[in-house]
Amino acid sequence: MASLTTSSCLLLLLALLLPLAAVAVPRGHRFPSLQLSPVNASEPPTAFFEVDRPIQPPRGSVGPCSALLLSGSFGYTYGRPPATAAYAPPECLAAARAGGGSLALAVLEWSADCRGRQFDRILGVWLSGAELLRSCTAEPRPNGILWSVSRDVTRYAALLSEPGEIAVYLGNIVDSTYTGVYHANLTLHLHFHSTTPSPPPTPHADLILPISRSLPLNDGQWFAIQNSADVQSKKLAIPSNTYRAVLEVFVSFHSSDEFWYTNPPNEYIEANNLSSIPGNGAFREVIVRVDEHVVGAVWPFTVIYTGGVNPLLWRPITSIGSFNLPTYDIDITPFLGKLMDGKEHNFGFAVTNALDMWYIDANLHLWLDHKSKKTVGSLISYDAASSANVDSQFSGLDGRFVTSASRHVSATGWVESSHGKVMTTFYQRFSYKNSNVYSKSGSEQVVNQTIDANSGVSATNGAMLLLSEEVHQVFPLYLFSGTSDEVGDEYSLVSVVKLGINEKRASGGEQGFSYSSLQNEQSARGSMRVKGNLVTSGSGENHQVYKYVGTDGCYFRDVNSKNYTVVFDHSGDSCLKGSSRVNGSRLPSS
Ligand SMILES: *[C@@H]1O[C@H](CO)[C@@H](O)[C@H](O)[C@H]1NC(C)=O
Ligand SMILES: *[C@@H]1O[C@H](CO)[C@@H](O)[C@H](O)[C@H]1NC(C)=O
Ligand SMILES: *[C@@H]1O[C@H](CO)[C@@H](O)[C@H](O)[C@H]1NC(C)=O
Ligand SMILES: *[C@@H]1O[C@H](CO)[C@@H](O)[C@H](O)[C@H]1NC(C)=O
Ligand SMILES: *[C@@H]1O[C@H](CO)[C@@H](O)[C@H](O)[C@H]1NC(C)=O
Ligand SMILES: *[C@@H]1O[C@H](CO)[C@@H](O)[C@H](O)[C@H]1NC(C)=O
Repeated sequence: MASLTTSSCLLLLLALLLPLAAVAVPRGHRFPSLQLSPVNASEPPTAFFEVDRPIQPPRGSVGPCSALLLSGSFGYTYGRPPATAAYAPPECLAAARAGGGSLALAVLEWSADCRGRQFDRILGVWLSGAELLRSCTAEPRPNGILWSVSRDVTRYAALLSEPGEIAVYLGNIVDSTYTGVYHANLTLHLHFHSTTPSPPPTPHADLILPISRSLPLNDGQWFAIQNSADVQSKKLAIPSNTYRAVLEVFVSFHSSDEFWYTNPPNEYIEANNLSSIPGNGAFREVIVRVDEHVVGAVWPFTVIYTGGVNPLLWRPITSIGSFNLPTYDIDITPFLGKLMDGKEHNFGFAVTNALDMWYIDANLHLWLDHKSKKTVGSLISYDAASSANVDSQFSGLDGRFVTSASRHVSATGWVESSHGKVMTTFYQRFSYKNSNVYSKSGSEQVVNQTIDANSGVSATNGAMLLLSEEVHQVFPLYLFSGTSDEVGDEYSLVSVVKLGINEKRASGGEQGFSYSSLQNEQSARGSMRVKGNLVTSGSGENHQVYKYVGTDGCYFRDVNSKNYTVVFDHSGDSCLKGSSRVNGSRLPSS
């Protein structure tokens, strides 16, 4: 999708016009909207949605009090500065605090509409340089579309209570073919506890430092990573009374790496003279470094944007994570002993095997000791290792590539503050397998990939476990793509996509025990006729099943769409019906 510069847009067009490029599966493509039936601009606009559980205000809270943060139109914005607006904390926030209340929930809502024809575009929302939302637009129709996405932004309470600047970047190109201008409103909804609840909720960070590019600039505030040697970084000094630190990483991939998990090895590309096909194989890893240490990694969920593979698969149910891209937390508390010397330290990002381009930035969440000016600490143990292997066999355009990779990172360190001498361990363990098979002279491609990610953090003061969190995520992906009936720059494409996020979380410690299990899976298929890079006819359907079971409630949804129409839609929030029961204190196996 739309990191798309004018020049890469042109390259894409040229690639599609080359007969050879279409013989090898024309993969990695985005397509702008198609009209399934003759255009009737007076039909009501289509409402797109990403399936997610509703964000529930905590029991006993009051609200919301809502404030419009920014209202903007995004026409020809490519290469221009972000839209900005001064941010002042809503008056109700100060009033609630003055009355002894506290923030219970903050929700950021992006609602937008568009009419005409347009590609899917990436967008970012920042407050004072810290990213609050990474999202992709829906693709418009002549009769118009609308959608909204909400993200729980309570963890940014420290930023929300200070004046700052909102910035929204949505790089769009409008011309005589791609006519869609996106109009959007950004609203903040706040809910409050009038008295401190019991037990008190886990405190949010006292300070959030952005690891992003500063305004003014003619782009998003993310770093753009263009190849595997590219390291983007920022130097930061950390307050000397920090006792906990968590890096929250935002990641999206575009242009040559939009479909990185389908990229063949370079030797296949070279042997077949396929210079227009992106390569570097199918494995990518975002590496996060603080000074010389790899503190963690992100093995990203394979978000498919709304114009990806076959745009008709995602109408109006959009693909998992496309409106609200997942973020990834890396606890760097064990390293605090090395960071609290008052000096600047280097926070850097790189992407293994990267092709142009990846948008990455991060928010550093810091918890400060209000009872001391200086905390001390030390890193006790640290270990990081990774391996990757490709089994590659091909003959001409047919071939089979099996890539496996694994990585672990673990660090233990202590920090002494008014909370005592606390020992924290953070670990990540990843495994990855990707099979990429080309057949029928490269006109069919099947990719089957699984990413398995385990991470956890535990903190103890020697006498008791203060905090324990475990997350186990599995991201399955299956993609079939078959090209046929080529005539000139026209061809037919049949696609099947299955992808999901399966996640188990458990946490324990001073705040009590919580557990959740999410199974979120989509199964989509479609066919289309493509001319140039326009879809001229086609059909698509998508079936999504979302099951969430947690100590904080349950949610279930089973929904199916075909050709822009929702065929059925069942949902519920019972913990007993349509989803399995929660099992007492059973921890997820990891
Ligand atoms: C277009 O849609 C409107 C509203 O649904 C309907 O009244 C009108 O008859 C339609 N026009 C055509 C040409 O189908
Ligand atoms: C934005 O808000 C204005 C004022 O309430 C409203 O007229 C407009 O339709 C909204 N636009 C979107 C895209 O929600
Ligand atoms: C690739 O190009 C080279 C040089 O132009 C040519 O010798 C070779 O036969 C080509 N290979 C294929 C598979 O087309
Ligand atoms: C994908 O691979 C997994 C594990 O290797 C396997 O269990 C699954 O059946 C495969 N799926 C398809 C559709 O081939
Ligand atoms: C979707 O639309 C296409 C073209 O208009 C049509 O051929 C196909 O039958 C439709 N599919 C469904 C499931 O309605
Ligand atoms: C709950 O426990 C029962 C019996 O111990 C087991 O069969 C079931 O799979 C468990 N369910 C979950 C969601 O863990």
